[in-house]
Amino acid sequence: MSEPIRVVVTGAAGQIAYSLLYMIAKGDVFGPNQPLILHLLDIPPMMGVLEGVVMELADCALPLLRGVVPTAEPAEAFKDVVAAFLVGAMPRKQGMERKDLLAANVKIFKVQGEALDTYANKNVKVLVVGNPANTNALICSRYAPSIPKENFTAMTRLDQNRAQAQIATRLHVPVADVSNIVIWGNHSSTQFPDASHGKVHMEKGKDVTVREAVGDDAWLRSVFVETVQKRGAAVINARKMSSAMSAAKAAGDHMRDWFHGTASGRFVSMGVLSDGSYGAPKDVVFSFPVVIKNKKWEIVKGLQIDDFARKMLDATGKELEEERTEALAIIGA
Ligand code: NAI
Repeated sequence: MSEPIRVVVTGAAGQIAYSLLYMIAKGDVFGPNQPLILHLLDIPPMMGVLEGVVMELADCALPLLRGVVPTAEPAEAFKDVVAAFLVGAMPRKQGMERKDLLAANVKIFKVQGEALDTYANKNVKVLVVGNPANTNALICSRYAPSIPKENFTAMTRLDQNRAQAQIATRLHVPVADVSNIVIWGNHSSTQFPDASHGKVHMEKGKDVTVREAVGDDAWLRSVFVETVQKRGAAVINARKMSSAMSAAKAAGDHMRDWFHGTASGRFVSMGVLSDGSYGAPKDVVFSFPVVIKNKKWEIVKGLQIDDFARKMLDATGKELEEERTEALAIIGA
């Protein structure tokens, strides 16, 4: 068995972390032979709650978990970590404008970027879950200049998983038989869930395109897109709380694929620093289809973008540029 690795989860006393910590600690993300030490960061008023989480982790009696470091200090939280799940963020409170939310969060991610830069392992892989995830990831990377830009990503895997599940339900096939659905752009209601490159394994040995299998382009461009875009709100309406179990599962999927690679012929969606591929704006964290090998992601090239897709990509790209402008104004950069 290898040496334990250090992994940090921020917002560790919150609801996503409550599901995520168990998944990580039992080996679902870094593998069944990888022991780990979990660093748990939250804010000072949450230290009592965090103590309860630490007790529960101990009571799980998990063989891979070799240590737990609960803390309210970023310096301690980020020390020597090789993977960072940045889940903690300021939630939107009643009466709060989108701008106020952005302002509070941009400041948090600036501090965490600086702490990563100073204390983390230089190969640390960073996944930002806390919203607005794409712009938070951009800010975080700007304040961690000694860590490669490609090590900062934002989570759109929950949107991908939701999209895959919608297609599987429609076609009455197991969800694992649906692949290569793409989430383009921002993790917000402007995201573009795109099934036009998707594949479905219909019968033994036979793959068909999602478009062929569904046979209803109008549905794929309307009901499907809107259902995925508004799924977060639908969960809040029903549960009176935001998605947590599914968000944790998606965060685990994202990091597992980053560490262990994507299966042959399959791609996944990740918010990564845009190089302008597919006409997306440069220098924003934009969700693209990627393949991963040796812990390095690469944007899938050459997918066909039709007029409908073009409009959708442009709209979500524009929103990300606006968020970047607002975020940079807030931190005076
Ligand atoms: P929560 O409110 O249950 O937990 C958030 C935790 O973060 C709290 O314990 C809070 O004290 C902590 N926190 C706040 N500021 C912090 C800081 N500066 N350092 C460390 N911890 C801090 O929220 P939940 O449900 O766990 O969601 C967390 C975030 O994930 C939210 O921003 C939510 O919008 C986002 N989210 C993103 C999704 C995605 O697909 N990208 C999906 C679902 C949620």
